Amino acid sequence: MTKQVPMTRRGVLCTGAAFASLSPLSPMRAAVAQQSDEPLRLRAAPSKAGLRPAPYGLTDVWSYNGAVPGSEIRVRQGDRIRVLAENRLEEETTIHWHGIRTPNAMDGVAFLTQDPIPVNGDFQYEFDALDAGTFWYHPHQRSFEQLGRGLYGPLIVEEAEPIRVDRDVTWMLDDWRMTNDGQLSNDFGNQGDAMHGGRIGNTVTINGQIPDRMAVQAGERIRLRLINAANARIFGLDFGDLDPVVIAMDGQPVAPHAPDDGIIVIGPAMRVDVVIDFTGKPGDLLSVNDVYYKDLEFRLVDFVYGSEALRQSVPDWSMVLAPNPLADPDIKKATRHQIVFNGGMMGQMMMGDGMGSMMGQMRQGNIWFINGKAANGPIMDPLLTLPLGTSHILEMENRTAWPHPIHLHGHTFRVIARNGQATQYLEWQDTVMMAPREKVDIAFVADNPGDWMFHCHIMEHQAAGMMGVIRVELDATKT
Ligand code: C2O
Ligand code: CU
Repeated sequence: MTKQVPMTRRGVLCTGAAFASLSPLSPMRAAVAQQSDEPLRLRAAPSKAGLRPAPYGLTDVWSYNGAVPGSEIRVRQGDRIRVLAENRLEEETTIHWHGIRTPNAMDGVAFLTQDPIPVNGDFQYEFDALDAGTFWYHPHQRSFEQLGRGLYGPLIVEEAEPIRVDRDVTWMLDDWRMTNDGQLSNDFGNQGDAMHGGRIGNTVTINGQIPDRMAVQAGERIRLRLINAANARIFGLDFGDLDPVVIAMDGQPVAPHAPDDGIIVIGPAMRVDVVIDFTGKPGDLLSVNDVYYKDLEFRLVDFVYGSEALRQSVPDWSMVLAPNPLADPDIKKATRHQIVFNGGMMGQMMMGDGMGSMMGQMRQGNIWFINGKAANGPIMDPLLTLPLGTSHILEMENRTAWPHPIHLHGHTFRVIARNGQATQYLEWQDTVMMAPREKVDIAFVADNPGDWMFHCHIMEHQAAGMMGVIRVELDATKT
């Protein structure tokens, strides 16, 4: 039933290709670190990208500053970020700073927090980096196509005192649906993808390239920042004999722990920071496999150990990150709200007697529902109106046959329970995966005033109705 295109085996695509190694991201750090008032420029425009290794040709994409991913923004916690967004696409756009707690007007949601940036127009974003961690940016206007064509980039906020590692590496993962001639398949936003698991592609890249190998040294400790920029693909990374330790989720510190079953699961838009000690021997080769989709496992990349060891034993440096300044929800006093997700293929709405009305809804492109409503464009009555400064628990229930990464803007929440069981780490997240039929409770303080998007980050689900608005009201006595 799932409409998944099997992964192109790397062997197929890369036969005879030169051994490429993962290239680092191009940083804009220098510009930012100067703390000048001069903004960074992010120019959204059509360009070409070498997603496939030589001798294959380039792919037409849309990108920021001519590169996929767009320039890495790297600042220190507390810095002010100023970005001049230049729209040189042939359609309107915006930039959203995923996971960053910006003031509402800087959140970059077209028609909700700002007018979209017109063709050839500019818009200046300006906000403080309150939280250290791994974040990213992408458009929030026709995202199913703009993100899917390559508009995204990493935003790294360094801790005042980072943990000690030998290397800090970012992997921005993406999944493309490519045709045989190496171009992007044009079927963005089609209803088949929307009804099923979204636009799952056939080509996975790390930092905009089909990865081949990454050089490491025996004894080396790497902080690996994983960011899932795919429209719909969920990754489940298996690092084989290595023991990655999860130290942050969605940029927020978490008690260092081994991932469940040793597999690092990352839904669309989510981030996971891991610390990896390379415990192999000089000359070893170790594959990282993506094992998320049953029977569609594939080898993502190989670590290749150099001939010399950096050190002989695992360092005893701390992996504990300092917490970010987040308001802790008062669980006892929190107001509880039921949020039910419905729709999609094989969902309750399709199966029951609601079939007639469902067909009508589908003709309008409404396939997914939150509390019975499908969003037809971003402006709508809020699902919830919350008084500023109060604690809330969203008791979310996934009554569909599909997993959904659910994202709340402007806030970071604690995941407090799954199917009624308290979570072990009370992890802070801005995007939480819900398995089919799963119940997930999240808690947060509504401490950032404004109208905030709340949606599934599978872009095709969002476009087909799976979003709503949560209003945080400055003064609860006004309506
Ligand atoms: Cu990453 Cu509403 O977005
Ligand atoms: Cu979804």
